[in-house]
Amino acid sequence: MAEATSKFTPRIFSGIQPSGGLTLGNYLGALKRFVEKQNEGIETIYCLVDLHAITVWQDPEKLRAQTREAAAGFLAAGIDPKRSILFNQSQVPGHAQLAWIFNCVARMGWMGRMTQWKDKTAGKNAEAESLGLFAYPSLMAADILLYHATHVPVGEDQKQHLELTRDIAAKFNHDYGVDFFPITEPVIEGAATRVMSLRDGSKKMSKSDPSDASRINLTDEADAISQKFRKAKTDPEPLPETLDGLKDRPEAKNLVNIYAALAEMTPEAVITEFGGKGFGTFKPALVDLAVAKLSPISTEMKRLMADPAEIDRILGDGAERADAIASPILRQAYDIVGMIRSRP
Ligand code: TYM
Repeated sequence: MAEATSKFTPRIFSGIQPSGGLTLGNYLGALKRFVEKQNEGIETIYCLVDLHAITVWQDPEKLRAQTREAAAGFLAAGIDPKRSILFNQSQVPGHAQLAWIFNCVARMGWMGRMTQWKDKTAGKNAEAESLGLFAYPSLMAADILLYHATHVPVGEDQKQHLELTRDIAAKFNHDYGVDFFPITEPVIEGAATRVMSLRDGSKKMSKSDPSDASRINLTDEADAISQKFRKAKTDPEPLPETLDGLKDRPEAKNLVNIYAALAEMTPEAVITEFGGKGFGTFKPALVDLAVAKLSPISTEMKRLMADPAEIDRILGDGAERADAIASPILRQAYDIVGMIRSRP
């Protein structure tokens, strides 16, 4: 445990936006690892960040459906609502409340330097984006620090946001002369911290990519998984004998990393097994592995989604347990900042 977080009890927090269906990137970079952390016996809190989702336009009915679908994805992937807290962000008011305080701690320049903000506004009129999209990382810092979370498992694309979370915690502690918020550690581990598009090895696999062929959705059935991997862009060379040989072959590297993460092997071990073999051999092996690992999840998701009332009950129970941790921390933060407790 790192020095800066040592006075805090180890606690994991992470979140996923319900702004579309979950992808293989979300699964390997985040969800699969959320389950591993839960099973290591650490306290784990997982959140469907619906307030983050509305930083860009969401149709209300679709947002509700996607939030339930994402919850089903968590449960189907192995999140146990008894051992982990699973809830949707909007139901614990402390997230928005602490985010406001952080909006007053963080600086505009910090937000403007976020690569995700720059990417999302590239070639567009940034003035026309929502204020929420600009302040997005401040709400993310609130998500984490509202629980005094010490560790946050994420994919690589969230690294900069977590550095900002540390900066916000440090500035709050410094400005108010307290040691109140932990300096949270990012946990970016495993073979697939950045899963790339199946159509373009230079782009991240994303739920917002217009091409469905670019991603595996957690709801995809065996046929779709097979089609997408078979059509995945590659090069004509066989797989190299050493990892080094993947350096300038982003599409091949991506498929090796996906295989490694699904099989719980290192990329080196995958290369030892498949080095010298062509994609005609490797892709069918990848399809078999992916179908074996993913189709039980999609089947279970369908079963769970047939009972939305049960999903809502699980989320409601999670929100109550989350709120019980968050409320006292928020009250203390208000005290530190100088708000009068005029109500009990
Ligand atoms: P989001 O919804 O974009 O993604 C959720 C998680 O999935 C990971 N991920 C990937 N990992 C590997 N390869 C990919 N192609 C890939 N695509 C997504 C992300 O890194 C992330 O871990 N801002 C966050 C949500 C958030 C959050 C938080 C996360 C809000 N508050 C507090 C952690 C803690 C986001 O948009 O993730």
